[in-house]
Amino acid sequence: MRASTTRPVFQPCSRLHELSAEEAALYAQLDPQKIPQHVAIIMDGNGRWAGKRALKRFLGHQQGAESVQFVVETASRINLPFITLYAFSLENNLRRPKSEVNFLMKLLRSYLVGNVKRMNDNNVRMEYIGRICELPSEVQDTMQWASEATARNTGTTLTLALNYGSRSEIVDAARKILTDLIAEAHQRGCSLEDLIQVDGLEARLDEHHISGALYTAHMPDPDLVIRTSGEQRISNFLLWQIAYSEIFITDRLWPDFRGIHLLEAIQNYQKRERRFGGLGETFTDEDLDALEPAAEVAEEIVTELTPKQLAPR
Ligand code: FPP
Repeated sequence: MRASTTRPVFQPCSRLHELSAEEAALYAQLDPQKIPQHVAIIMDGNGRWAGKRALKRFLGHQQGAESVQFVVETASRINLPFITLYAFSLENNLRRPKSEVNFLMKLLRSYLVGNVKRMNDNNVRMEYIGRICELPSEVQDTMQWASEATARNTGTTLTLALNYGSRSEIVDAARKILTDLIAEAHQRGCSLEDLIQVDGLEARLDEHHISGALYTAHMPDPDLVIRTSGEQRISNFLLWQIAYSEIFITDRLWPDFRGIHLLEAIQNYQKRERRFGGLGETFTDEDLDALEPAAEVAEEIVTELTPKQLAPR
């Protein structure tokens, strides 16, 4: 399921007074100009949260759904344009016991039914990414209903990644690009080879074409990825899109994660220097002037290294 193409423009509005006192105090320390455009969260640790309390795993997921709502509402109050939550991976679908998968599907439906009003009260629009068509039809129907019921909202876009895997997203994107090219060739009455030769392969396939064919084509890439429960993995989440994202890992388990912790992660993010492969703002022209000329460096390498180190292997 791809998001609808005619979406309302994001309209920030002043809802900071709705933050809790603790959140407001932390928000006051943030730079409002540097609020990320897009935060993506790998929600992890529901099972461990339940295990620590000798509860069934299902109750961890149930508590995790509560966290979703708290965090999304704080995101909407600070005018975060996009928040994407990894709710259910393709691998979860294939590798978890059927009973847990069925429970997660039921929980998703009841979460959507129970929270659409709150989403509307918070001006949040709901969208999805993933191979949604493989989910049970009654789940798809409820998802469709929730996205339609919130489609006119102009605040935060909450995207739930469901039956999502980043590699399969890239496969889907490649298939879409190829299918579109074949259709165009057919329409023009020429072969695919001829079509590509007209403009050249570079003009027909570059990074923009791939980004534009991903499920997330309409969103900026995440500025910040948060993972709860301390695991240091990306788990097949938005691999293409997070090429230059900042990553924040917290030991806190997802069911204990709240809006204040989102603000803490943003505070940490605001202290980072993003370089996107460049040198960053702190690297000045004076630093560049201070660098030794290449010839001197080359000479130093020759004189400093022993013949053995220089010998061909
Ligand atoms: C990881 O915890 C979490 C999931 C596999 C599912 C995430 C689901 C929710 C947060 C609740 C439902 C969400 C919505 C939107 C209604 P885990 O089970 O892998 O935890 P563990 O690693 O401690 O076992």
